[in-house]
Amino acid sequence: MTAKVRTAILISGRGSNMTALIEAAKKPDYPADIALVLSNRPDAGGLQRAAADGIATAIVDHKAHPDRESFEHRVDAVLREHGVEIVCLAGFMRILTPWFITRWEGRLINIHPSLLPDYRGLHTHARALADGVSRHGCTVHFVVPELDAGPTIAQASVPVLPGDDEAALSARVLEQEHRLYPAALADVAAGRVRLIEGAIADDRPADHARFLAG
Ligand code: GAR
Repeated sequence: MTAKVRTAILISGRGSNMTALIEAAKKPDYPADIALVLSNRPDAGGLQRAAADGIATAIVDHKAHPDRESFEHRVDAVLREHGVEIVCLAGFMRILTPWFITRWEGRLINIHPSLLPDYRGLHTHARALADGVSRHGCTVHFVVPELDAGPTIAQASVPVLPGDDEAALSARVLEQEHRLYPAALADVAAGRVRLIEGAIADDRPADHARFLAG
């Protein structure tokens, strides 16, 4: 079997998507191995969860660095020290500079809680509810310098139901995030989806995207 792709997960908080990726990567035939969990916040709950699973963890506290560049140079150095090949952002709440994004181009992916290109940025569930949309969801995409604008790898959608509040809708979307992210990472790690000159090259079966739709 070919070697598993060494993957880092960057978190800032509870890390439920991180946990979904860790659990998926335990399967013998999964193409990625979680080599590192890195947080910019020392108190991120996901750090303890990862350590309990025997995964290497690192803290690079953005508040301990004078500017974004020095913070990102340290993150980059730690990733390289661990031989990381793919980076998954999973609730990592720092905007990354073009320097870092270019350095990891095609190997840096993110999960975002909306059906991009709708609702880039923050408070996606509240904005979807305020607009009265009938479908909402989540997207895994390659990261490019423009915020939440990178090419889509996979999406899952859910209905918005009468009486939904932010908590109910975010829980419905999060359930899909936990399905979608492991599937998308597997596709990237196995080379079935690639970023080539800013566009997606996709070797997956044609019905794959439908399979992922919730
Ligand atoms: C997830 O819903 C993720 O999509 C979102 O933060 C949450 C993190 O939860 N990410 C963003 O909003 C990125 N802009 P988790 O820590 O339990 O995975």
